[in-house]
Amino acid sequence: MKFFIDTGDIKEIREACETGLVDGVTTNPSLVASSGRDFKSLIKEICEISSGPVSAEVLATDTEGMLKEAKVLSAIAPNVCIKLPLTVDGLKACKKLSDDGIATNVTLCFSALQALLAAKAGATYVSPFVGRLDDIGESGSALISDIVTIYDNYPNLKTQVLAASIRGPKHMLDVAFAGAHVATLPPKILKQMYQHPLTDKGLAAFMEDWKKTGQSLV
Ligand code: E4P
Repeated sequence: MKFFIDTGDIKEIREACETGLVDGVTTNPSLVASSGRDFKSLIKEICEISSGPVSAEVLATDTEGMLKEAKVLSAIAPNVCIKLPLTVDGLKACKKLSDDGIATNVTLCFSALQALLAAKAGATYVSPFVGRLDDIGESGSALISDIVTIYDNYPNLKTQVLAASIRGPKHMLDVAFAGAHVATLPPKILKQMYQHPLTDKGLAAFMEDWKKTGQSLV
């Protein structure tokens, strides 16, 4: 399972990538806005930190505009992945870009049928939003499971399921059980995944006992 980090904060990206556990980065217009940074220079800097795919989202809503923006974004670095909304225009742009060998991430996916369309359009990744579905009383992890099942039924569909809108460690657990190929998570959730009180308690006890031996290893 790949882990992407979902933020536009350079410090957080650097810190998360230093763990060696991060395979890529995702951004969206809201995250770019909260970074306060110039979009293109932000993406350039992220691409220098992460050698994995860096999702940068188009702002146009028509296919032609999306393709123009995709050209600008792709020129920033070879690891830019073009993020497109799951609309008719977005999927038309996705088909064209994937035919041209450009990596794409189709975002704002809320149904298995939408995910099937994204795969037909040749998307590299499809991003179902787990948290936003849970917010309206639906099951985000059930959607991940449905999409994985459908894609598994048709091995010619190569799109990877990228679980997005992850709001807590339980979402990570749920989407891992559901078979998501990738999950993109806010940095604070990556940190939470390390934590267990019994790890802290056990380590403290080992350290206490070790002191009694009076030994040092190096
Ligand atoms: C995914 O690509 C999105 O950037 C993100 O995961 C959305 O998360 P949110 O629903 O918490 O805003």
